[in-house]
Amino acid sequence: MKAYEKLLVENKKWAGDKVKEDPHYFDRLEHLQTPEFLWIGCSDSRVPANEITGTQPGEIFVHRNVANLVINNDVNLLSVLDYAVNHLKVKHVIVCGHYGCGGIKSALTNHDFKAVLNMWLRSIKDVYRIHRSELDSITNEDKKTDRLVELNVQEQIFNLAKTSIVQRAWKNEQRPHLHGWVYGLKDGLIKPVCEMNAGTHIDPLYEYDDL
Ligand code: CO
Repeated sequence: MKAYEKLLVENKKWAGDKVKEDPHYFDRLEHLQTPEFLWIGCSDSRVPANEITGTQPGEIFVHRNVANLVINNDVNLLSVLDYAVNHLKVKHVIVCGHYGCGGIKSALTNHDFKAVLNMWLRSIKDVYRIHRSELDSITNEDKKTDRLVELNVQEQIFNLAKTSIVQRAWKNEQRPHLHGWVYGLKDGLIKPVCEMNAGTHIDPLYEYDDL
């Protein structure tokens, strides 16, 4: 059996098990998508949103990219955010990074990863620049990377708050609340690192006054 064929075999087994447990499982799911959470996580295969939060299909709307970035002209991310906030009406948006993130480690090097990856990793270097004095003072390389993982999550929370999508929902519906988390590959535990409740004021430069 080829490696990819195993996935299809396992899928059949999984679907069969689900129906055995609950004959109406798929009927219900098909007609129900009311997740309370949008998850913006890293593409890393070791950080599956549902597994690590003990949630089921239907409970979390998920977007993942390298190093869980919120880039203000990323049409993919903004479409997911718009749909989650304005149509699914999620109450919480979670940005979840993880310690040992390859994207963050790569951004800390001066290696040329070629065109597209250089472009993507650039914004992580920008996060470093914003927090340069704190990060420069950490001499242990692993600790420095871990702290950049946390600060990166925090910056992505700010980036969410800078969007008119979030600001309009804050003004009209007092949601969503924003949560910055970091997952530990070593112990499987999630550490909350920052939080922003709906309506929090940010740097006025980024606040729209005619939403
Ligand atoms: Co990662």
